[in-house]
Amino acid sequence: MSDSEDWVGRYERGESRYPYTPYPIGWFRMAYSHELDPGDVQRLHRFGRELVVFRTESGRACVADAHCPHLGAHLGVGGEVVGEALRCPFHHWEFEGESGRCTKIPYAKRIPPKAALRSWPVRERNGLVLAFHHPERKPPHFEIPEVPELEDPAWMPLDLNHWTVRANWLDMNENCVDMAHFKYIHGTLSIPPTTAEIDGTTHVATSQFRMKMPGGNEGDAQLVTYDHGPGVQVVRMEGLIDSLLLNTSTPIDAEQTDVSFAYTVRSEGETRKEHLAAKIIEDLKNQFEHDRPIWENKAYWTRPTLCDGDGPIATYRKWVQQFV
Ligand code: FES
Ligand SMILES: [Fe+2]
Repeated sequence: MSDSEDWVGRYERGESRYPYTPYPIGWFRMAYSHELDPGDVQRLHRFGRELVVFRTESGRACVADAHCPHLGAHLGVGGEVVGEALRCPFHHWEFEGESGRCTKIPYAKRIPPKAALRSWPVRERNGLVLAFHHPERKPPHFEIPEVPELEDPAWMPLDLNHWTVRANWLDMNENCVDMAHFKYIHGTLSIPPTTAEIDGTTHVATSQFRMKMPGGNEGDAQLVTYDHGPGVQVVRMEGLIDSLLLNTSTPIDAEQTDVSFAYTVRSEGETRKEHLAAKIIEDLKNQFEHDRPIWENKAYWTRPTLCDGDGPIATYRKWVQQFV
């Protein structure tokens, strides 16, 4: 389906750390909605290429390849939004945001039919500007569901955190089903029993945690992790405190990934819960730093030597196949 054969070859020749594409199929965060105002144009390096993210005057978020089909100027450097189009700084050709079609050349009688930017399918959902990547440019075949907690006033505003990690998406995402590492890396009190199921393009992992909360109390919690393709993950935690993580991972290039964790708690305006949430956020940031040196230096084994306590890693890898 994609270029995965190349990556297997590169892996086998020792030219890549990973035997699968760094650029999988799926929806990926290109921006947060609140960071993109009408008229904004941002340049971005993702999927090993230069991109431009912009918002038209009517408010539509758009993503396109950055280089102009005319003579190659970078639309993220001096490009301007004009109505529903993006205007190239070099000769003022204009490209319609959603389709990428050239709609105006101020000095030509005829617009060349092939004049178009490569635009990406975009959805704006859960405060994220998401673009759909498919190596053959096929249209989206699934959607990212709404996360109702984000609109619910009982939940705190999202706390956003970003990292650039020198690791490939799958190796990091597999963390949610690598149950033994929760005890030995993150210090949970036991190895959490976990089940996993594949629901089409969504992978659902359910874990029972016995953990120490910041402040010292011990308690039980259930974590349900929904992976909606390789780029968007929603984690719901119930028990000690109802909380939610909205995580994204977007490939920057073959080795680096842009990772975000956004956290919220059902605080219902209670200061005590908000303080607890702040402590949990600190704890999550520390947890990320526990994982990072492992991810950035580990090898990826196609056939790892697993034991019975490891968790449903095989199910996760089976699910991932549809995106590579
Ligand atoms: S390079 Fe973009 S209009 Fe000429
Ligand atoms: Fe981890």
